[in-house]
Amino acid sequence: MTVRAVVKGVGHYLPERVVENSYFEKLLDTSDEWIRSRSGIERRHFAATDETTSKMATFAARAALDDAGLQPDDLDAIILATSTADFTFPSAATMVQAQLGMTGGFAFDIQAVCAGFVYALANANALILSGQAKRVLVIGAETFSSIMDWTDRSTCVLFGDGAGALVLEAQQGQGTTDDTGILATDLNSDGRYRDLLYVDGGVSTKSTGHLRMQGNQVFRHAVEKLASTAHTSLAKLGLGADDIDWIVPHQANIRIIQGTARKLGIGMDKVVVTVQDHGNTSAASIPLALSVARARGQIKSGDLIVTEAIGGGLAWGSVVLRW
Ligand code: ACO
Repeated sequence: MTVRAVVKGVGHYLPERVVENSYFEKLLDTSDEWIRSRSGIERRHFAATDETTSKMATFAARAALDDAGLQPDDLDAIILATSTADFTFPSAATMVQAQLGMTGGFAFDIQAVCAGFVYALANANALILSGQAKRVLVIGAETFSSIMDWTDRSTCVLFGDGAGALVLEAQQGQGTTDDTGILATDLNSDGRYRDLLYVDGGVSTKSTGHLRMQGNQVFRHAVEKLASTAHTSLAKLGLGADDIDWIVPHQANIRIIQGTARKLGIGMDKVVVTVQDHGNTSAASIPLALSVARARGQIKSGDLIVTEAIGGGLAWGSVVLRW
C-alpha cells in the first residue's frame, strides 16, 4: 500500500472589478487587438484597495473547504504560494489560518513566482507522504496589480489578480498509476536567468519595486522547459502524452500554452484555458484554472491531469495527478 495525496476539494475567488483590454487603450499606446493576438488575454480582474492577497486566499480556501465538506480545524497545514503577500511578515498563510479560525496545525508561504503553486503542491505532497500532515490546504493567491509599472505597456496588460485553492488528503493507494492523487512531481530552477523576469525592489533594497520582464526571452525558455518538465514527470510513471486527459498549464500566454501542447503532441481539446478571462495571475493561475475547469464540467473523477508552470527565477516544474 502507498500513501497518496488526493484532491478532496477545489475553489477559487476573483475580485469583482473586471478590466477589459480596451481600458489600456486610454492609458497607453496599445490596442485590444495587440493584447489578444500576442497573449490571448481579453480581460482580467483587479483587486480593490482593501482586497489583499490573504483576503482573496481566504475566500478561495473557504470555497475549497466547502467543496471538500471539511472544517478549518480538520486541516493540519496551509501552504500558500504567493509573491505578493500582504506584509513582509507574518506569512500570508498564517493570516489565512487566523481568518479561517483554524487554531492548530501550521501554515507557511512559498515563493516561486508563477511556478509557486506547482512548488506548493510538491511540498504538500512531501508532507503527506512523510506522515507530517494528513490534510493540507494548498493555495495560490496574488495581487500582481500592486507591482505593475502602469507606464510599461509590455507588462501591465498581461497580469491579473485572484486566488485558487485545493484541499489534499492522505489516502491509501495501490502504488500504481491508476491511484487517485498526486503521482509524480518535477521541480527545477536556474538563478542565472534572474534578469529575464524580476521585481526591481524588495525589503533589503528598501522599496517595493515593479515587475520587469524580457517577454520574448521568457517565451523561448517557457515552451522548451514546460514541455521538458511535463515529459520528465510523466516518464517517472512510464506514461506518455496519450495517457493524459487534461493539461492544466500556467495561464501566461495562449501562444506558450499552444506551443507547449504542440511540443507534447497533445490537442488543444485536452488543454484547460482560462487566460482570456484572468490574464496571468502567477501562482493563482493553476488552482484558478482547476476550479474553473471543474465548474465547467471539463475535469471528472479519475482524469489524469498534468499541471506545469514557469516563472521568475527562472523556476519551473510540473505535477501529474489523478483527480
Ligand atoms: N501594445 C502594443 N505593442 C506592444 C505592447 C503592447 N501592450 N507591448 C510590447 N509591444 C511592442 C514592443 O515594444 C515591440 O515593439 P518593437 O518591435 O517596435 O520594439 C513589439 O511589440 C514586439 O515585442 P515583443 O516583446 O517581441 O512581443 P512578443 O510577440 O514576444 O509578445 C509577450 C510579448 C506577450 C510579453 C510575450 O513575449 C510573452 O508572453 N512572453 C512570456 C511572458 C510569460 O510567460 N511570463 C511568464 C512568467 S510571468 C512570472 O513569472 C511573474
